[in-house]
Amino acid sequence: MMNREDYVEQIPDYQYMRETVKKDENRLHFHLMPPTGWMNDPNGLCEFQGINHIYFQYTPFLAGWGTKLWGHYTTTDWIHFQECEPFLFPDCDWDRDGVYSGSAFVDGDKIHYFYTGNVKLQDKDYDYILEGREQNTIHLVSEDGVHAGEKQLVMTNADYPADMSKHVRDPKIFAKNGRYYMVQGARDCESKGCVLLFESEDLMTWKYFDRIAPEEKFGYMWECPDLFEVDGQEILIACPQGVPKSGHDYQNVYQCGYFPIEMDFENKKYKLGEFHELDKGFDIYATQTFPDENGRRILIGWMGIPDADYDNDATVEYDWIHALTMPRVLTYQDGKLIQKPLEELKSLRKNKMVTSITSFGEWTTTDCCFELSVKRDDENAAMILGLRDDVTLTYKDHILKLELGKSGHGRKQRTVKLDSLKNMSVYSDTSAIEIFINDGEEVMTTRVYSEKLNQKVRFLQSETDGEIEVYDLGSFVME
Ligand code: FRU
Repeated sequence: MMNREDYVEQIPDYQYMRETVKKDENRLHFHLMPPTGWMNDPNGLCEFQGINHIYFQYTPFLAGWGTKLWGHYTTTDWIHFQECEPFLFPDCDWDRDGVYSGSAFVDGDKIHYFYTGNVKLQDKDYDYILEGREQNTIHLVSEDGVHAGEKQLVMTNADYPADMSKHVRDPKIFAKNGRYYMVQGARDCESKGCVLLFESEDLMTWKYFDRIAPEEKFGYMWECPDLFEVDGQEILIACPQGVPKSGHDYQNVYQCGYFPIEMDFENKKYKLGEFHELDKGFDIYATQTFPDENGRRILIGWMGIPDADYDNDATVEYDWIHALTMPRVLTYQDGKLIQKPLEELKSLRKNKMVTSITSFGEWTTTDCCFELSVKRDDENAAMILGLRDDVTLTYKDHILKLELGKSGHGRKQRTVKLDSLKNMSVYSDTSAIEIFINDGEEVMTTRVYSEKLNQKVRFLQSETDGEIEVYDLGSFVME
């Protein structure tokens, strides 16, 4: 447990962490990171009265796995950010081992929050799957996104279907036909992953509605579900764990992807489409979306993944670990979910350079913070683009391959199959790279820890010419 008073009392003891993080060259320039300590899933994303709230899984005083709080940033323009005091603390019996992931739902002049209170029983030896754990669904209201109202317990494991294991978590709310619905990620007693749906008329009382599960088992646990509509298409995002690798698919230890879905709430029926990974890179998990006040559907992910055989230890000695992806706008076109960096990030651009593949030569970056877009004349031609000493992107025979050497800290290669490679935009930050392929049809995200940040960017090979636009990128401003 850590209540607000404990937290405030400990701040002076850990002030040194704030000094240590400043010394790290790998601190990111345009990605959100924990001020100190550990960050994982983005939580409670919402825009309320012109202010975007980005909460996140957070252990401020430990750059490792610990009891979670909800950290908190706000922004009105996605360039200037305010660090706020953590929003939620593990301060009651329902959430004493962690204020786990959850979401925000804006309803008129209030924000409703739902999250999982994690409790791990310690009185005997448990498997912590079928027993020994409580995952409580907790609700609270805030009138400003900064001050949290009183916590109310709305469901416990006893309220989830009887064939569920103790792993049921990560509530996300949406409204449909005048009712409220909640999705939760779950593992059943036979270790089949699924999504549970609950319904409510008043956001206070919830009852079980239905479950969404594939016909054939697809992983043993699904985390962080999200159900929403974009461009007339209903989409279910989930993070299945335990899906075996299959060719170019599911190369990460856990998946993060979406199913197009057709929901028929009246008849409790649904039609689940095919699963697509949201990002074919190394570092993506637990994404969350929200509608902003301009009607855009914005997605932010955890730029990390649990239990991978590669690491982010390079930053631990500087007292922090992990980050969030850039915010991405979602649209749905021709049967595909398209992701594009938020327009607002264009104001990070500096020093525009327009050239061609043939005349690009060798370009040296001083801090690795740049955006590079390529539009290729021949979308089928082979190509090797060197992004850093030991980071390359190779396109050949419909396969785009991202390869990292030592700077990958165990990350070696990820591949994505494409019909062709028409264009791509690379966003490189000190210790992260996000690559948007074919106008955002595919994305590859990776952390990277180069020994030095003045690096050469060059085409090691290209069988086609094409247009190139390069910018240096500036930094987010923390106010
Ligand atoms: C996903 C996750 C969630 C959980 C949270 C705990 O990364 O495991 O299922 O609520 O992280 O930090």
